[in-house]
Amino acid sequence: MPGHKRKAFGELPQPIADLDITEIEGFDNLHQPGPLFAELQREAARLYGAEESFYLINGSTGGILSAVSAALPEGGHILMARNCHRSAYHAAYLRHLRISFLYPPVLETFDICGAITAEQVGEALEREPDIGAVLIVSPTYEGRIADIRAIAGIVHEKGIPLIVDEAHGAHLGLAEGFAENSCQAGADLVIHSVHKTLPAMTQTALLHVSGNRIDRERLKRFLQIYQSSSPSYVLMASIENVIRVINEKKDVLFGRLRADYSEMLERLKDCENLRFLPLEPGQDIGKLVLASAGNRFSGQWLYDLLRREYRLQLEMASASYCLAMFTAGDGPKAYRRMTDALLSLDRRIAAGEWKDRTRKEPAGPGSDFATRVTDFFRDTGEKEIPLTEAWNGEKESVPLEEAGGRYAGEFVHLYPPGIPLLVPGERIAERHCAQLREYLRMGLNVQGVEKAGASGGPILPSWEKPEDGDVSRSTIKVWKR
Ligand SMILES: Cc1ncc(COP(=O)(O)O)c(C=O)c1O
Repeated sequence: MPGHKRKAFGELPQPIADLDITEIEGFDNLHQPGPLFAELQREAARLYGAEESFYLINGSTGGILSAVSAALPEGGHILMARNCHRSAYHAAYLRHLRISFLYPPVLETFDICGAITAEQVGEALEREPDIGAVLIVSPTYEGRIADIRAIAGIVHEKGIPLIVDEAHGAHLGLAEGFAENSCQAGADLVIHSVHKTLPAMTQTALLHVSGNRIDRERLKRFLQIYQSSSPSYVLMASIENVIRVINEKKDVLFGRLRADYSEMLERLKDCENLRFLPLEPGQDIGKLVLASAGNRFSGQWLYDLLRREYRLQLEMASASYCLAMFTAGDGPKAYRRMTDALLSLDRRIAAGEWKDRTRKEPAGPGSDFATRVTDFFRDTGEKEIPLTEAWNGEKESVPLEEAGGRYAGEFVHLYPPGIPLLVPGERIAERHCAQLREYLRMGLNVQGVEKAGASGGPILPSWEKPEDGDVSRSTIKVWKR
């Protein structure tokens, strides 16, 4: 193995086939590291300021599953940010954990989650003394960075570990002008998707561990359970490559990223009909969160227009904003193209090009009919069914308009970013059903809702999707009492 015998086959190109070996003599074994992987992983630990690091070939997903499983006993109690990625929920499900939530503050004007604060964490730990570990996400998908140093101090006072899902922060702490990373700030377990904010291949990630609150042998056991027994050498070579290049050129690469990104934001200040999340303390460099002034156009509309008319593929669209990402992999042309496109779009809106456009989608934050995604991340104070019980339980499909008051039977999320809007066992509010229907109408990628007639059809770009589709007949799986 591999069966391609390191030869090009069909559209598998020779350079990839060349790299794709297995654990043959002289190439070590990730799950039982000899000198080669031990040194490569030490290199990663040195770069980030961790005591020990592990290559991950199953993305941050595998790292989060392993970190949560290692930090808590089965059935333990986790304090977790409500805006965690679905993999954190999957870990809680697999390990039958009891979850207490930290509800992130909300930046109303953009309808995004802010950073969890140290005060919130402190209060929750006082309220629930049997919590065994804390998990937060920082930076968030939109780039909000938490004060990890302060949070780690509070969590450690209780003698428990802090896990930081820093999937979007693999570039942090590596060069001047960027926030420190969570290893440097004192977290016990930190997970980085190398493939998200560094020039590395999809699925590459790192898990870092420091201190003595985590049993390292237990952590390694879970890494073996959740990761493939045939780790891809192509992916591992990509991690090695990115760490080497960053070690050699980090000041140049990140200096350029910072300068280009700041210059782009500066030029975009001329926009009158588009607005951008400003670069301020606590906001990461590289994320461009953009919305229309007064939320005249939905995030999905902006996203579609930029793709269709300017051939720019953004990272994601939400109800009121969309998100572009810039990394050290971008050259000056990327910033120029984005800036020129947005300035042009701004001018076209000002010239009234879409003035007669009747909104099918209701306005975003602040409007009467709220489409606020962050509404899903607020504490409803409702009693919930434990995740494992609800997800394992019997379910039934009901039309969206009849789901209010029932308990979710499946995860529902916008993808990306894969943060659950509804978690199995959560009480579904009437307004949630109305919001989900609006998201479907807006063409957002809602997963976990069965859109009638949607299966089997071609995958269409959202601007070609049927107007209203079968939104009114969409169904959702609820827990069967
Ligand atoms: C905050 C966050 N954590 C974890 C993940 C999972 O990362 P990966 O795709 O590397 O498995 C994602 C993916 O989007 C994410 O956004």
